[in-house]
Amino acid sequence: MKNLWHSRWQEGKIGFHNSDVHSDLLTYASFLDDGPHRVLVPLCGKSVDMIWLAEQGHEVVGVELVPLAVEQFFSDKGLSPEIQKQGAVQLYRAGSITILCGDIFDIDQSHIGEIDRVWDRAALVALPRELRSSYVSHLRSIALDNARFMINVFRYDTSVMDGPPHSISDEEIQEYFAGRELSLLSEQDKLSDYPLFEARGHKYWNVCTYSA
Ligand SMILES: C[S@@+](CC[C@H](N)C(=O)[O-])C[C@H]1O[C@@H](n2cnc3c(N)ncnc32)[C@H](O)[C@@H]1O
Repeated sequence: MKNLWHSRWQEGKIGFHNSDVHSDLLTYASFLDDGPHRVLVPLCGKSVDMIWLAEQGHEVVGVELVPLAVEQFFSDKGLSPEIQKQGAVQLYRAGSITILCGDIFDIDQSHIGEIDRVWDRAALVALPRELRSSYVSHLRSIALDNARFMINVFRYDTSVMDGPPHSISDEEIQEYFAGRELSLLSEQDKLSDYPLFEARGHKYWNVCTYSA
């Protein structure tokens, strides 16, 4: 699985990368009220959401497995990060953005500090079923107890394809956030924004945003 992500970055197969800030982050920006916050962006790729979050005055901590993705993030923005080794993790920092290069499961609270917001976009859906429950438990254990999450997932007809990106049912995500108030903020069919999936035969492609 990890090799798949290294190859995708090497080959430039990064169709998931969006050059604009994610629209749900803008629509539900009240998630970030009463800041500034320390925002974790797990499985961050080279998401420009991190730039936007930093511009809003927040401290940003991304976590990404593939060094090439981290290097591209900083070079695309003309930033020269300081780089430090912390055990299995390589830390890149420029201004209020830190990216930890390593496996999310190797990250603990000593790496990320006191996280009170988590923005998960194309992260939970990138992981196979057998890792998703431990992934969410891990995030819940390394963030502060009262940290708020905003999670963006996809829902589609799984008879057309299996992921990644994976389809996440409402029951599944409810299971991961058991014991917390989980709200579905929006669920919209955005198939027209995903021509690649329309070409594969999908008749709908629902984008769902939850807060917890
Ligand atoms: C679908 S991409 C999404 C990237 C980013 N969230 C975005 O919105 O553009 C998933 C990213 O997770 C990274 N990744 C996959 N498994 C990981 C792991 N175990 N730990 C950290 N990063 C991982 C991949 O290299 C890839 O960049």
